[in-house]
Amino acid sequence: MNAQVSGLSDDDRRPPSNELLEIAQRGLALKPKRLPSWLFYDERGSALFDEICEQPEYYLTRSEIVLMDEHAGNIADTLGSDVRLVEYGSGNARKTSMLLQHLHEPVAYVPVEISAEPLRESVERLGAEFPSLPVQPLCADFTKPLRLPIPPRAPRRTVVYFPGSTIGNFDNRDAAVLLRKMRNEMGDAGGILIGVDLKKDHAVIEAAYNDRAGVTSRFTLNMLTRLNRDIGSNFDLTAFRHRAHYNPMAGRIETHIVSAKSQQVKIGRANVAFREDEAIQVEYSCKYSLADFEALAAKAGLAVLRVWTDAQQMFSVQYLVRASTVAR
Ligand code: AVJ
Repeated sequence: MNAQVSGLSDDDRRPPSNELLEIAQRGLALKPKRLPSWLFYDERGSALFDEICEQPEYYLTRSEIVLMDEHAGNIADTLGSDVRLVEYGSGNARKTSMLLQHLHEPVAYVPVEISAEPLRESVERLGAEFPSLPVQPLCADFTKPLRLPIPPRAPRRTVVYFPGSTIGNFDNRDAAVLLRKMRNEMGDAGGILIGVDLKKDHAVIEAAYNDRAGVTSRFTLNMLTRLNRDIGSNFDLTAFRHRAHYNPMAGRIETHIVSAKSQQVKIGRANVAFREDEAIQVEYSCKYSLADFEALAAKAGLAVLRVWTDAQQMFSVQYLVRASTVAR
């Protein structure tokens, strides 16, 4: 897509397919095999994720929406007026509009999203809903340093919005690195508003990643379909299955793609061998107690200023600021 025509910034770092091939080859050469979870989100994967959010077992999205419905006004009051809202990932239009509805004179909304099409859609939707709000989309990988667009007027603070417990996809070290990067981008007066899934009954968590309708399984295996299409691999979709277990020691769902038999798969010019029951690790979904997340934030030089939860304490939205700015 032409950045000029679409009105997007040209800061577009989507990996081309030869890079995808390298990523797949590198991940499948690891022991144990591992592929990055962002590979889920091609067009079909994003549609399947939307479908996951509607499954009765997947409590995360519903709980966060209930929470926002209850607390968005209070959250907006906490952020204060003249905020520039920078959202990491822009697939969350519903929660974002609940927040924007309550923000006091927001300076701009900056959705940061690696895929051009979802980014364009969210700009269109929110632009129609909030016609007087400047929207400054940035097509970029939010795990890399960002060049934020120049705001139309000086914001009182920049708030990075990261809903959906996407932070849970990063292991503890990478999560701290990402939070530290947000801390740099938001500046001294800034803040981070982040959705964090909470620890709870293990069976409830496990069910959320093993819905009865099998949508999560299709979502997981779609990674192989996507690789077959984009790098020309030949994964046999009938010979792999989805597995998601809660690891109570690590406090996270660990999702794997498991080989049902001993087999060879063509990845570029090379053949990759799978043993029967050999697993590719494809996703972590970390769950936190409030103390866990406070400790993670502290590792990134951040302090938790406020926490909101739904009445059932399933999910939390937390407001973080630079630790050095909190009086103690
Ligand atoms: C979008 C990363 C929050 O980990 O719960 C849902 C993705 N994976 N079901 C999550 C996902 C399987 C989801 N996040």
